[in-house]
Amino acid sequence: MKAYLIDRYAKGGTLKLGEIAQPELRDNDVLVEIHAAGVNVLDSKIRDGEFKLILPYRLPLVLGNDVAGVVVRVGAKVRQFKTGDEVYARPAQDRIGTFAEYIAMDEADVALKPMNLTMEQAASIPLVALTAWQALVERANVQKGQKVLIHAGSGGVGTIAIQLAKHLGAHVATTTSTANVDLVRNLGADVVIDYKTEDFETVLHDYDVVLNGLGKETLEKSLGVLKRGGKLISISGPPDLDFARQAGSGWLLQQVMRLLSFGIRNKSKHRGIRYSFLFMRANGEQLEKITRLIETGRLRPVMDRIFPFDKTNEALAHVETGRAKGKVVIAVK
Ligand SMILES: NC(=O)c1ccc[n+]([C@@H]2O[C@H](COP(=O)([O-])OP(=O)(O)OC[C@H]3O[C@@H](n4cnc5c(N)ncnc54)[C@H](OP(=O)(O)O)[C@@H]3O)[C@@H](O)[C@H]2O)c1
Repeated sequence: MKAYLIDRYAKGGTLKLGEIAQPELRDNDVLVEIHAAGVNVLDSKIRDGEFKLILPYRLPLVLGNDVAGVVVRVGAKVRQFKTGDEVYARPAQDRIGTFAEYIAMDEADVALKPMNLTMEQAASIPLVALTAWQALVERANVQKGQKVLIHAGSGGVGTIAIQLAKHLGAHVATTTSTANVDLVRNLGADVVIDYKTEDFETVLHDYDVVLNGLGKETLEKSLGVLKRGGKLISISGPPDLDFARQAGSGWLLQQVMRLLSFGIRNKSKHRGIRYSFLFMRANGEQLEKITRLIETGRLRPVMDRIFPFDKTNEALAHVETGRAKGKVVIAVK
């Protein structure tokens, strides 16, 4: 099968188109013919080698963390899916590889594709929607009436997180640039901070939750927005000890991550705020709940651009500009 892969880590490197064997099917796996693959910032971070200590992949490695397609074979123990099912998924982090014609995934990581979405729209959803779900539902337990700030509301995570927070009944603020103010308002944001003209930390106060996908400066300023008892959840780092333990990191790496997040944890503690780093994980059950929200019109995908398979490198470069409005997707089939 055709696949876009890397044979070494290189910052800004190019993915190579290669011909490789179809993935082997384990008993609990479904083999999916890939119709579309979502592109994520994570793909370029993996290519750059930023995750090599946490996710020790064997090279060559096929990149790609989001998929929509059709089940073409099932393993002996598969119970939930059959050949012909249209599905979508974020594959488990140690079994990525959606910039390809086929992928094998554990059925526990897969869900039926929302019936009202195209393959390309569906492929835009899993990683960012699971991230939003795991941040807002699982970790923050957002309740009706709570105040939630979502940074970078026009990005892949932001466009879904705004809608999910509204669905949970929160009062939602978001940051974006002038060009995207209407987009985030249409997604339901109650307060829109145009970072070109306003400083969010002077406008917003007494928030319950902040979801941060931006840099250190934004992370630290976010402390001023939260009330005592509030939660600061960062998906862009720095990683903390809980994450290192979950990731099964050794003692040394655990200490490194503890040190990396020492500053923000300490500042948070002084203000009575709980800082945590979140690294999303595959989860077919949560994705099923997301399917329901999409089919009932509570969540909708926001698509920036669809690239053909032979423009996979261009698709990745487009995401790397940091200016995408919603999601970038590759049409594979
Ligand atoms: N830990 C995890 O599990 C996890 C999961 C998913 C993503 N992430 C990380 O989260 C971050 C965001 O991911 P993403 O997929 O949402 O990225 P993305 O789609 O590439 O984000 C692009 C958006 O960010 C906005 N943006 C850039 N600078 C901004 C600023 N200073 N203030 C407000 N908005 C700004 C841009 O809007 P403008 O053009 O208007 O500036 C653009 O629409 C990345 O670092 C990614 O690696 C982590």
